[in-house]
Amino acid sequence: MSIDIFWRIPTHGEPRHHRSRTPYRGDWFPGDETRRVPGLGGDGEDGYTYIDYLAEIAHAAEISGFQGGLIPTFPSTEEPWVIAPFLARETKTFRFMIPFQPAFQNPVLVARATASLQRATGGRTLYNIISGGGGPEQLWWGDSVGHDDRYTRTTEFLDVLRGVWKGGPFSYRGKFYQLEDSGLPDPLSREDYPEIYFSGSSDAALASASLHADFYLSWLEPFAQLGEKFDRVKEKTAALGRQIKTAVRVDIIARPTEEEAWREVERGFENIDKAVWERYYASIDSESVGAARQRSFRPTTINSYRDFIIEPNVWSGFALLRGGQTNGIVGSYEQVAERLDQLVQLGAGAFILASTPHLEEAYRVGEEVLPLVRGSVETRLREVA
Ligand SMILES: Cc1cc2nc3c(=O)[nH]c(=O)nc-3n(C[C@H](O)[C@H](O)[C@H](O)COP(=O)(O)O)c2cc1C
Repeated sequence: MSIDIFWRIPTHGEPRHHRSRTPYRGDWFPGDETRRVPGLGGDGEDGYTYIDYLAEIAHAAEISGFQGGLIPTFPSTEEPWVIAPFLARETKTFRFMIPFQPAFQNPVLVARATASLQRATGGRTLYNIISGGGGPEQLWWGDSVGHDDRYTRTTEFLDVLRGVWKGGPFSYRGKFYQLEDSGLPDPLSREDYPEIYFSGSSDAALASASLHADFYLSWLEPFAQLGEKFDRVKEKTAALGRQIKTAVRVDIIARPTEEEAWREVERGFENIDKAVWERYYASIDSESVGAARQRSFRPTTINSYRDFIIEPNVWSGFALLRGGQTNGIVGSYEQVAERLDQLVQLGAGAFILASTPHLEEAYRVGEEVLPLVRGSVETRLREVA
């Protein structure tokens, strides 16, 4: 058995370190002349765009031992369907995980586009299937379908995708999709079906994942709670006669010593500006069960960054440093590797790791942390044997 370790490709700008939220690389940059650095920040006059920077991260991750990268999609990001083929041409083995909300494209088009991508890249495409958190962000996309119906739509979409992938004739009568005599033509239908990661924490999400996913993907939660969620999704899937693996998407801050790692957190924490705190306490208008599970770890009284430590080496304030999900791992290289190993013991078969800035940290984590994780996994497996 091996675990699959991915890096994250930051598609919405990259700050210099955890102590800042201001992007400063490529043309994804507010344009502060005093901070302009040739080839790094600026207005694109030197021809260096943010996409070039993303390609550097993909290279760094590839040569540092990551299997590939997740390319996130939000209203605030570049578009992963477009970024992925660029990264594919820049790399050799790097697998690119494209997250998307199935509803936004026709499933036959997605099957066809993915098969072409598989042909062009030697089968390096993966999906992260997301079904949307509802609220204003869902309407930003023009989607007003309710929470559970979105998952019904996702299930139907994946039924259709798999059906047409095998070649025709494939017909389908669902609530959202109806097809007659469809199917990919040869040679597209001979390509490997992409591996499917699936995100969402609600019962509706788990039901859909158990039908179609290869990996159930979660943000980090307290370890016992996460283990329980993993067991639930595995049982649900086994009852359908299928097997599913589980994966964790988690930010890390790994340094030579634990003190240095917490010092980085502390300095970031001291720099959080008022607007970020206001957003942190603002009313919530998302329906996402997974996001609510993340928010449930917010401390009620906050005196220091330490109030956000929810178990050893797990800090629940990442949303304050860089937005997004909230729980991450902080510690020495050895401690971070140990915590990842514990997640493997709880059943995690894959990780998507991230740290800021993603370029330099890909080298650091690849060189300092990954060898320790892989080493202990192999050791444990030998002991089991
Ligand atoms: C690891 C992970 C990554 C996610 N990535 C994205 C993303 O890139 N874009 C997005 O719109 N939603 C993303 N989501 C949100 C979920 O796919 C889902 O829409 C949300 O959690 C609501 O579902 P729920 O109510 O079942 O939890 C992600 C969720 C998880 C757990």
